[in-house]
Amino acid sequence: MNSNSENFNNIYRTEISKIEKQLRLLLKGKKPRSLYEPCSYMLNGGGKRLRPFLVLISAKAVGGKFNDVYNAAIAVEILHNFTLAHDDIMDNSPKRRGRKTLHKKYDVNTAILAGDILIALAYESLLKDCKNNVNGIVSAFTHGVIEVCEGQSLDKDFELRQNVSISEYQRMIYKKTAALAEMCCSIGALLCSASAKEIKAVSNYGKNLGMAFQIQDDLLDIVGEENQIGKTIGSDLVEGKKTYLFLRALERSNVKDRTELTKVIKQKGISRSEIHKYSKLYLKLGVIKDAEHEIMKYTKLALKNLSSLKNGEGKNLMFWLATALITRNK
Ligand code: IPE
Ligand code: IPE
Ligand code: MG
Ligand code: MG
Ligand code: MG
Repeated sequence: MNSNSENFNNIYRTEISKIEKQLRLLLKGKKPRSLYEPCSYMLNGGGKRLRPFLVLISAKAVGGKFNDVYNAAIAVEILHNFTLAHDDIMDNSPKRRGRKTLHKKYDVNTAILAGDILIALAYESLLKDCKNNVNGIVSAFTHGVIEVCEGQSLDKDFELRQNVSISEYQRMIYKKTAALAEMCCSIGALLCSASAKEIKAVSNYGKNLGMAFQIQDDLLDIVGEENQIGKTIGSDLVEGKKTYLFLRALERSNVKDRTELTKVIKQKGISRSEIHKYSKLYLKLGVIKDAEHEIMKYTKLALKNLSSLKNGEGKNLMFWLATALITRNK
């Protein structure tokens, strides 16, 4: 690590620990515990805290201060945790952040309600930072929520679909993941009364970073280390998800391999014991490399937006983050 990236990494860690402290205080002593304790379990389980950091650095990149947008940063992390709580129910996931998922630790009903109230708590936190343009900021936030739900719906629809194109996949991940990253950057800028040009630049950065992020999430489901990533590996195959790797593998396969791959669709997923067979097939077909190229493509698209921004440190942090994420292992 060179000294610049060490410095940025320090800023990231410092800011993230402040966010975590606030998250711990948020629900302290609130009743009923049957509702708030599961929420605390969800919010205080670690995680990269990428989305709040996007809010902070976007604010800085347009000339604002971290302090102006802390509550908004907390809001997007709370919102993200709502999506995770419900996503884990929908994906039958037993593990997240190295621990039991919320519905496994408690039960499905508890996890649904915890997710519900997290949305409300997210709005409550966001409103604390809204001084001007409340309508614009709350609309952007709401649009983000709508996109995630639509994207998650497409993700589930695609499990049952035989033919999903790469462009349909891109639209789905834009909605389920990239739109939220885009929203984080746009509200960071909106809260600091940025110009339309600046808002566009940071939003485009967030959107492309989000696209890269989801393709990498798909990739890590195959090549990741369970201990690092904190989720069970190969779950996308088990659930019959139409990931980037799966769709590229279909495109690249010969007749024999294609028969193996279509089994995943026909049987609506595979058993855990077959994961290794499919990850070997992915490697053979070159789709691991394809995914890496795609991640690079979107990262470059993200970085292209930074030239028009004025604040040196905010801009440099955005550059650092996008490049650091390429080599993430969790
Ligand atoms: C997981 O998000 C869900 C996706 C959109 C891929 P993260 O990988 O950011 O999860 P945490 O918050 O760091 O655990
Ligand atoms: C998550 O996609 C998208 C969300 C909106 C939460 P995944 O289902 O791939 O996320 P993980 O892999 O469970 O974290
Ligand atoms: Mg999912
Ligand atoms: Mg999932
Ligand atoms: Mg995933």
